[in-house]
Parts: sequence; C-alpha cells; structure tokens
Amino acid sequence: MEATEMTFTADGRRLDVLLSEQSGLTRSRIASLMEEGRVTVDGIAARDGKVKVDSDAQTILLDGVRVEGDGFVYLMLYKPVGVLSATEDKKGATTAMDLLPEEYRKAAPGVVGRLDKDAEGLLLLTNNGELNHRLTSPKHHADKLYRVTLDIPANGEDVRAFAEPMDLGDFTTQPGKLELLEDGKAALVTIHEGKFHQIKRMFAHQGKTVQTLKRLAIGPLKLDETLSEGDWRSLEKAEIQALLTVADMM
Ligand code: URA
Repeated sequence: MEATEMTFTADGRRLDVLLSEQSGLTRSRIASLMEEGRVTVDGIAARDGKVKVDSDAQTILLDGVRVEGDGFVYLMLYKPVGVLSATEDKKGATTAMDLLPEEYRKAAPGVVGRLDKDAEGLLLLTNNGELNHRLTSPKHHADKLYRVTLDIPANGEDVRAFAEPMDLGDFTTQPGKLELLEDGKAALVTIHEGKFHQIKRMFAHQGKTVQTLKRLAIGPLKLDETLSEGDWRSLEKAEIQALLTVADMM
C-alpha cells in the first residue's frame, strides 16, 4: 500500500528527515529503504519520504525497529551465553552488535551495564548516553535483577550477608537482596551497582560458585519472556518512559 493512502498529522516532521536523524543514514539511503518497503508507519509501508509524521502518535518502524521522536534508539536483546556484551571485539568474537541489523549497528547504540560472556539475559542498548550513564550510576537506584544457580545451595546466612554492605576488597557493595529458590540451589539476586563480576564475587565471598547467571531486569525494564535467545526488539514507549523516570529524566 502506498504512503499516500495513510493519514498523517499536518504538524509532524518529514518522515525521511526523522529517519535520517535517527539512524545516521543519508536521505537517499532512506529513500531506497522506503522503496524496498522496509519503512512502515502504523503498519503500512511508507514510500514517500516527504510525508509529515508524528512519532508520538504514530508507530514508525525501520526494519521492524521503532523510531523514537527523540532521535534515540532503545532496544532490548536477549543475550545468549557466549556472546560479548561489548559493541565490538578486536579478536572477532560475536558481540551483541552482531545480532542487530546493519541499520541499527550504524546508529551505534551503547550497552547499558555489561553482562559476562558466560551470562545470558536482558541487555539494554541505547545511544541515549545520558540515560546509559544514569542507569549505571548507583545514585539512581536502578536495581538489576538476576537469577543464578549455584554449586552449593545458598542459605539464610547468605541472605543476611547480601542484605549488608559486603567488603570485596577493592569496593564495598551497597546492601542487596538474595531470595532463595529451589532450596537455595537457585536464587534471585538484586543489586544496585554493576561492578565487574559483582555477583560472582559476592557468592565467592560466601564460598560458593555461580554456575549460571541470567539478568531478568534493569530497573523497571523486564526481559520480554517471548524473546528467544539472540532475539531483540525495540522498547515500547511505556518502557522508555519508565526508564527515563527512574533516571530522573522525565
Ligand atoms: N554479576 C556478574 O558476576 N556478572 C555479570 O555479568 C553481571 C553481574
């Protein structure tokens, strides 16, 4: 269906300008993507870049990824074990960025809070640098929630230890939370910071080894259970707003 069949708001912005700003692609590249039917507005392929759109009222997707009016990209990825959460790796290992389509690699979203290579779960990617900074700063209390399995079951003593500041030598944690599952063989862990190997080190402090680690949430953003490992999707408006709210940016 042609773009001319759609209803657009009169006071919006030109679709090709918005897309170009958002993706970093040239307007002529945007024009070819539109030719190929890869841009949709409210589910209908848009082929005319001159039409005015309102990204608050309409859903604009480029290769299925939502284009936000603030010009930033916000994605969630279900990082599989074995993939680096870095955006590039000099040794050529698979990175989170390799799992995104080319257009979104160009927009260069940064990773909010890394996950170890042998960990899986929620990875938030955005090129909104201020949000990234604030969500990873302990000051803004964006709790991170993980599910772990352990070699030796966790117990009440561990629950108490996690609830207190824990001295790990080079830094002391803020109080976190440990909830036992499956008689302690698995557990949910909530922490405020995200220091390198923090959860593994906290369990090591208690004489236990983390066997599997999965991030389930970053602040209000929960891993979408319908995503398979390696899949990604753009965030819903409400999810973005919730993140901006905890980061005091609303
Ligand atoms: N804690 C860890 O030990 N590893 C992670 O990837 C995240 C938190």
